[in-house]
Amino acid sequence: MAAEILPSEGSIDRRTVLRGAAIGGGVVALGGMLTACGSQGSAGAGGTVPTGKVALSKVPVGGGIVLPAQNVAITQPTAGEYKVFDGNCTHQNCPVSEVTNDGIKCPCHSGYYDPSTGAAIAGPPKDPLKEVPFHIEGNELVFGS
Ligand code: FES
Repeated sequence: MAAEILPSEGSIDRRTVLRGAAIGGGVVALGGMLTACGSQGSAGAGGTVPTGKVALSKVPVGGGIVLPAQNVAITQPTAGEYKVFDGNCTHQNCPVSEVTNDGIKCPCHSGYYDPSTGAAIAGPPKDPLKEVPFHIEGNELVFGS
């Protein structure tokens, strides 16, 4: 029941990945939860946990990616240390859009979160992003399960 998300393959430079503009292949929805919740899962709004998986190679060291379909931000603050955060901004619930050098960005009111902890670090958000449980399976990070 897996559905491939954003199957674009090819070169992804660090800037593109940091902007979250191109996620590339290797992102596969796990099904169940997405089917029940439409295209997004959200620990912030509906109490559900987003589920999916991504190739570890898609998450840059010192940066991260946003998976819009699953509404999560996945970061790798230091080599081999991963974090997964629910993508709902804690200010007014907009989805975060990208991981920049300034942090995990919410575009609605320029809120930023620390990619290491999810703490609100700039803009109007006061509360941290919710962490999403995950584990590593081979070369993939599986979240929400
Ligand atoms: S909704 Fe994210 S900063 Fe306002």
